[in-house]
Amino acid sequence: MKVALCGLGEIGQIHLRAIRESEADLVAVCELDRELAANSVGDEVSVFADVTEMIETAGPDAVDICLPHHLHVPVAVAAMEGGCDVLLEKPIAVDLAGADEISRVAAETGRRVGISHNQVFFGPHRRLREMIDSGELGEIRAIYERLWMGGKYGGWREDSSQVGGGLLMDAGVHRIYMAEYLGGPVRSVSAVMDKPRSEDAFAITLEYESGALGVIQGGYHGPDGVFDDRIEIQASAAMVEVLGCEAFFEGDLEGEPRLRYRIGGEWADDTVTGAWDESVIASVQALLADLAAGRDPEVGLAEGRSAVAVVEAAYRSAETGRAVAIGELNERNS
Ligand SMILES: NC(=O)c1ccc[n+]([C@@H]2O[C@H](COP(=O)([O-])OP(=O)(O)OC[C@H]3O[C@@H](n4cnc5c(N)ncnc54)[C@H](O)[C@@H]3O)[C@@H](O)[C@H]2O)c1
Repeated sequence: MKVALCGLGEIGQIHLRAIRESEADLVAVCELDRELAANSVGDEVSVFADVTEMIETAGPDAVDICLPHHLHVPVAVAAMEGGCDVLLEKPIAVDLAGADEISRVAAETGRRVGISHNQVFFGPHRRLREMIDSGELGEIRAIYERLWMGGKYGGWREDSSQVGGGLLMDAGVHRIYMAEYLGGPVRSVSAVMDKPRSEDAFAITLEYESGALGVIQGGYHGPDGVFDDRIEIQASAAMVEVLGCEAFFEGDLEGEPRLRYRIGGEWADDTVTGAWDESVIASVQALLADLAAGRDPEVGLAEGRSAVAVVEAAYRSAETGRAVAIGELNERNS
């Protein structure tokens, strides 16, 4: 499969590695920063500054999009209309209308779309999902997730119109799709935030369709270098902790077990390993393999839209002071 990559910034570099180490052929890149492009791919492939020109000239089968959020919909639409499948970094779009536009064009053109929700491919998270599926934890009653970061990012992330919000719409999206990956569909959302839609701090409670409760707390105000993204589960027969996906990458938890659980009386460590960058590579390679095989991607339009719906519900709840049902948003957007 011929793949073209848009955006060679922080995450684009890891996608570049993933594509190079996969069965797919990198045929072109699209990057405005010519020096960055030259340093990244040299003469290996042609460099473009316009996605439509790149598709017409290089003729890729799939376009991998690692661009700021406000460009996800127009570039994904251009790729599908140019006859390509799409692999898109999170979030699928800055709002539900954008997510629905991508689904509409995918249906019209018959193209497939994979969303890189990379933490679904983090070894300890997959192991936790297996433990849930096996029934050994009993019934999930509560899921707690943290996102405590220090050192605020700059660049396009300072412009909420490009991000589609603040911290929640950026790194927070990982917490949202993980909440659904582990707990299933969310019924309703309540939230408080410092500045909804350009937030630096938030606390969210989720009511799952299963009846379980979720709590997600996030903030940018930690000491420099901190990245606490652990997940804890309380279930009828067990307690489980996953000590972060990005925390290990930042070097904060070196030597600690990734996953600990207490089933019965004793805490035990699981030997599962994994790292944030490995999860990005695994995600990109799994989605590319799905697209190459003509399969619907493991993480696709439904999961991408659902995460944005929960974020939108959290914004509306923070703005209105009341719980917002996901069904209510779906009715308004149908
Ligand atoms: N999965 C993860 O853990 C993770 C981590 C970081 C970023 N991301 C996501 O990846 C995406 C990109 O984020 P980033 O941190 O890599 O951003 P970045 O700013 O580091 O990189 C973006 C790149 O896109 C280029 N660019 C901007 N507009 C362009 C255009 N019109 N055409 C071609 N190139 C253009 C910029 O020059 C830059 O090199 C976002 O969706 C973000 O949420 C995901």
